[in-house]
Order: sequence, then C-alpha cells, then structure tokens
Amino acid sequence: MTEEKPISQEETSAKSYQCCGSESKEQESTSEVLNKTNETEVRKAVREQYGAIASGNNMSSLDQDLENTSCCGDQETYTDYSQEELENIPKGANLGLGSGNPIRLADIQKGETIVDLGSGAGIDCFLAAQKTGETGNVIGIDMTSQMIDKARRNAKQDEYQNVEFRLGEIEHMPVADSTVDLIVSNCVINLSVDKNQVFKEAYRILKPGGRLVVSDIMLQYDFPEAVKQALADSPGCVSRAWVTNDYVSVIKKAGFENVEILESQLIKPQKKYTNDSESSTRKRSIVVSGKKLEVELSPEEDERLQNTVMKAHVRAYKPKI
Ligand SMILES: C[S@@+](CC[C@H](N)C(=O)[O-])C[C@H]1O[C@@H](n2cnc3c(N)ncnc32)[C@H](O)[C@@H]1O
Repeated sequence: MTEEKPISQEETSAKSYQCCGSESKEQESTSEVLNKTNETEVRKAVREQYGAIASGNNMSSLDQDLENTSCCGDQETYTDYSQEELENIPKGANLGLGSGNPIRLADIQKGETIVDLGSGAGIDCFLAAQKTGETGNVIGIDMTSQMIDKARRNAKQDEYQNVEFRLGEIEHMPVADSTVDLIVSNCVINLSVDKNQVFKEAYRILKPGGRLVVSDIMLQYDFPEAVKQALADSPGCVSRAWVTNDYVSVIKKAGFENVEILESQLIKPQKKYTNDSESSTRKRSIVVSGKKLEVELSPEEDERLQNTVMKAHVRAYKPKI
C-alpha cells in the first residue's frame, strides 16, 4: 500500500522552481526561496510535534522545553466543553489541544456540510456530526498522518457514518469550491505559515452565505523582542500567533464580511524570577502557552506580556452574492 501524502505547498508551487520555461517575473527571489525553505522547516516541525502527540509521546525532539502541549496553559483546570459533550464523543478524541469550543458558537443546523481545519483526533468533528445529523456531513482536515489515523480509528470505534478525515494542508484544502456551509477550527490557524492563504482557501470552499467560526490564539500586543527571539524556532502555538487586528484584517482581505470577535480571554504566562530585583531588567523563566522561555524583560515589557496572549472566537461570513 502506498503511503498517503498531504497535498503540499511545495507541490502546488513547483512550477516556480522549473529550470526553464517560466517567465522571469514568475521567478522567485533568493529571499523568497529562503523563506520557502524556512516555511518547509516550520511545517515539518509542527507535523513532528503533533505526530508525536498523536502517537502518545508528548515531547517531540524539536521542542523538548514544552512544559505542556496545550496552547492555553493548564487544561486540567480549564475546558470550554461541557461534561455532556465530553462524555458523548469517542474515547481518545479529546487530546486537550484546543483553545476553545467553536461548535458552541456555530449554531449548526441539521443537514449542514461542515469542515474542521486541523481536526486533530476529531473532537470538534464528532460534536459537529451530532448536530448536523445523518443528513449532513463533516470533513476533518489535518496535515499530520498520525492524527488522521487516530481520528479515523475514533470514528470507526463509535460508528460515525457522517464524518470523514482527509490528509492535507489547510493552505491547500482538499475540498471542492463552494460546497461547505460552515468552517470551524480550534487552535490551528495560529500555527500556519501562510494565514492569508488559509483564509483565501476558506473563502473558496464556502458556499455564498457560508460562515467561519474559529477559536484561536491571538495577541493583544506584539511580543517583546526577547520573547520573539526565544520563540523564533518553536513550532508551538504562540510562535506565529498574530495581533488580533492583523488577524481580522486578513479575514476581511480574503473577502469575508461581518467579521466579529465573539469572545476573548487573556492567557496569563506562568513565571518565576531567576535573578535579583536590583537589576533594571528581570531575567525570568516564563511559560507562555506551554512553552518554557528564559528571557530578560524590562518591568514595562514584563507587565505588558501579562496582557498579551489571548484565546478568542471569531466569526465571519462569505457574502451571499
Ligand atoms: C493544536 S492542535 C488542535 C487539534 C484540534 N483542533 C483540537 O482542538 O483538538 C493543531 C492540529 O492542527 C494540525 N495542523 C497544524 N498546522 C496545519 C496545517 N497547516 N494544515 C493542516 N493541519 C495542520 C496539527 O497536525 C494538529 O493536529
């Protein structure tokens, strides 16, 4: 049997790497090629991290300093799912990786076609499937084959007939144009190296009048430089999170209307001092969304960092015509 491979950005942009034939204006500059290499590395690291989680090994070799795998701190004390929801999904579908519960705010109707971007082990797909019923259908997309395998096993175990899982990147969704009523996503788009492309694709697959309800990690302010540098190579969920205004702008740029932040909540970093208070900067060991960092911060930067990371639910509509 041949191994299933996600459709990748490298494949869809392969034309640009041809030796001859393409016009010079289509050729990429050296820095664009370097950025692509970096993007490929980031994608690989993200895939490795979630592959390890799906296989039951929380720490990937690329991110040994993850304190926990959740974007939102301690998931044992926080969950946006009701007890009833958690009791009625396949065992193993909740890996505690989400930042909210987009299903709660999606107003799902019977018979709807729903796509979940970065479906993980399938938690939101199963909840959506219960709401859309047997006349509807749910498609989970994930680029990590171990996650897709796990989600498919979960669906089989509880005999879901209206859910399927497709291996693919959310920047190149394996879904036909204008066929979807609702797109949901939970703590995934922050990880993407090309958020513009994700929202363009979301727009493409939605029917006119279709909607997007996304839970994600966003930033109220930009990170202090020291934090940015410390996070630079991390595949973790805050490393590529965007300031809320930029996030909303890119959704609008893709063509969506009535873009609205429905709910938001700050995620305070956990921290401990590692040097004395006489210094004007404070060397700190902090945990920002599961990632442990050693950084020096001024008192102002430190204060601002407390109010920087948040989780939010966003809703947007594709215009009816
Ligand atoms: C933080 S987990 C969230 C999983 C799930 N939504 C949940 O709430 O449990 C992120 C998931 O998105 C997937 N993912 C990350 N970037 C992706 C991309 N560009 N395309 C497709 N899947 C992606 C990962 O493989 C992982 O399963």
